[in-house]
Amino acid sequence: MTANTFDFSDRIARGIPPAPKAAPGGGRVEFDFTTAFPDPDSFPADGLHEALGRALKDEGKDLVYYPHIQGHPAMREFIAQKLERERDMNVSPDQIMLTTGSGQAVARYVELLTDPGDIILLEKFSYSGTMGIMRRHGARLIGVDIDEEGIIPSALDEVLTSLQDRGQRAKFLYTIPTFQNPTGTDMSLGRRQDVLDVAQRHRLPIFEDDCYADLRFAGENSPSIQSLDQEGSVLYCGSFSKIVAPGMRLGYMAAPPSVIDAVKAIHLGATPSQFSALATMYYLQDHLDEHVQELREIFRSKKDTAVAAVGEYFGSRAEGSDPDGGLYLWLKLPEGANTAAALAKARERGISYGPGTNFSPGQDAYNYLRLCYGHLTHETIRQGIANLAAFLEEEGMLE
Ligand SMILES: Cc1ncc(COP(=O)(O)O)c(C=O)c1O
Repeated sequence: MTANTFDFSDRIARGIPPAPKAAPGGGRVEFDFTTAFPDPDSFPADGLHEALGRALKDEGKDLVYYPHIQGHPAMREFIAQKLERERDMNVSPDQIMLTTGSGQAVARYVELLTDPGDIILLEKFSYSGTMGIMRRHGARLIGVDIDEEGIIPSALDEVLTSLQDRGQRAKFLYTIPTFQNPTGTDMSLGRRQDVLDVAQRHRLPIFEDDCYADLRFAGENSPSIQSLDQEGSVLYCGSFSKIVAPGMRLGYMAAPPSVIDAVKAIHLGATPSQFSALATMYYLQDHLDEHVQELREIFRSKKDTAVAAVGEYFGSRAEGSDPDGGLYLWLKLPEGANTAAALAKARERGISYGPGTNFSPGQDAYNYLRLCYGHLTHETIRQGIANLAAFLEEEGMLE
C-alpha cells in the first residue's frame, strides 16, 4: 500500500472546479426526490439480456476494433429514423454522434461554443448539470422569462435587443422545450416557431435539449424546434437514459455536418461503449414502442400520485406544476422560504429534493424546489410529500 502523501494540489490545472461536495448528510435517504431516475421495476433486464446475446452472436467479434468515432453506424441509422418518425426531423446518420448520455452531448456543445466570458441564454430556471458545465467554461448565464409554455418570445427579444444596445451578443440559447427541467413546461408548436423566429432574427443559434420527449403521458408532442429550422442553426441532443436507463450511458447529438466535424476534434477516444450501444439498439429495434408505452403509463400514474399528495399536504401553501410528461414536479413555496438552507436538516429527516438554487442561473430561486418521482413507489411518493410538507411547516417555510 502506498502512503498517498504526494500533494497534487499545485499540479492540478487551473479552471478545474473543486470536487463536488457530497450531499449534505451523505448517502441515500428514504424519501429521495433529488434525481430524475426512471422506474427500476420497469428496467428491461430480460429483454436487454436477450438482445445482447443476439448482438454478440451477430457482431461480437467486431468489438476487437475501436468503434467509429460517431458510434455504431446502424445505431445512428436507428436514431435518424426515430427522429424522423417522432420528432419530424430530417437528419442523416452522418449528422449524428453517439455520446455517453446526453450529458456528454451537452458538454461537447458547450465546450465547442463557449469561450470564457461568453453570454449564454437559457430558461429562467434550467437543468443544473448543463449550467455547471457552462459555468466551468466561464460562461455568463442569463435566464429568460418563461410562462406555462416555456420561453416567452417577447422576453427573449428584449434580452437580445438590450444586449445589442450595449454592444454585446449572446453566443447561443439553450432550451429544453419538451417537459423542461425543472419546470415541466411544454412549448406548443406556435411557441417553438416564435422562439425560433426571434432567435433567427437576432442570428442566435439554439441548442435544443430534448431528452424528455419520449416521456409524454398526456397530449401530443409538438415537432422539435430543429425540425422547423431551415437555416441549420439548431443543434439537438437526445438520450436513452430516461427510456432505458442512465446506467447504459447512451445519448446523441444531431447537428449540421460542419458542427459534427468540429466535435470530432474534441471527441477522440470518447465514443460510448459499443457493448451498451449494441444491447440498446437490438432491444429497442423490437421493443421501443411497447416499452415506452409502458413507461408512460407508469410515470403518468406516479405523477398523479405526486400531484394529489402536493394538493393534499401543501394545499394553497405551495404552487406546484402538473406536467404532461417528464419525471418531476416544480414547487413554489411562499417568499422567504429557503429550500437550500433547509436541505441538510431535511436529509436528517430522511427527505431529499432539488433546491431551487440548483436550477437558477443566478443561483437564487430560494423558495422553489424540484421533486423527482420516477423511481419511487406510489407509497413512498405520498409519504415523502407528507413528511416534506410537515418538515417545511415546522421550519416556518409554508407561511
Ligand atoms: C435536461 C437534461 N439534459 C441532459 C441530462 C443528462 O442526462 P443523460 O446524460 O443521462 O442523458 C439530463 C439528466 O437529468 C437532463 O435533465
